[in-house]
Amino acid sequence: MPVELRRARPPDADFLVELVTDDDVRPFLGPRTATTREGVLEEIERSLAEPESFGRFVVELDGEPAGTVGFRVSSEPNRIARLEKLAVHPRFRGRRLADEAARLFQRLLLEELDFHRIELEIYAFNERACAHAERSGFVREGQKRKAYRKDGEWVDSVLYAIVADDLED
Ligand SMILES: CC(C)(COP(=O)(O)OP(=O)(O)OC[C@H]1O[C@@H](n2cnc3c(N)ncnc32)[C@H](O)[C@@H]1OP(=O)(O)O)[C@@H](O)C(=O)NCCC(=O)NCCS
Repeated sequence: MPVELRRARPPDADFLVELVTDDDVRPFLGPRTATTREGVLEEIERSLAEPESFGRFVVELDGEPAGTVGFRVSSEPNRIARLEKLAVHPRFRGRRLADEAARLFQRLLLEELDFHRIELEIYAFNERACAHAERSGFVREGQKRKAYRKDGEWVDSVLYAIVADDLED
């Protein structure tokens, strides 16, 4: 499948805002997700200015924007990157696009950017994303109990990670 990952550029801002504000995306992302055009543009500029420590990417299918994924450094001494903002536009769901994007992203972070470990945290109620993470090679490492307040309720999150040694050749 011709899935590609490329670093987001300012003209991608409208697509990214539409994506993260979609009713079938927003509830699954954390509260600090940038949802305004200004906020998204700021993140794109930061990703271009600090490519080794912060990233905002567009997932393309046949050259058409279909999703997004991002990272930030969570520990520089330990070379840990935290994956964030994973989303596939509802128009492109059902083809396991995120699995392909995750594999490309793992290679980019672990091989090209030389991280040692990638961490990913998913709300426990988001079974679709947990199933995706497990299919994509992330290892479930634990569960944080009642860690976040979501619509007035305390909810759990599930912690996943992949380390450089996990990548198959
Ligand atoms: C998680 C996400 C990126 C996966 O996108 P995707 O690659 O298009 O995934 P698909 O829609 O192809 O679904 C993959 C599989 O999960 C299955 N699935 C759907 N809902 C499910 C659920 N509630 N529980 C378990 N599996 C589920 C699908 O049936 C499909 O399996 P199949 O291929 O055997 O039919 C996408 O759903 C999304 O953008 N969600 C909103 C944002 C989000 O949750 N991001 C993660 C934040 S950590």
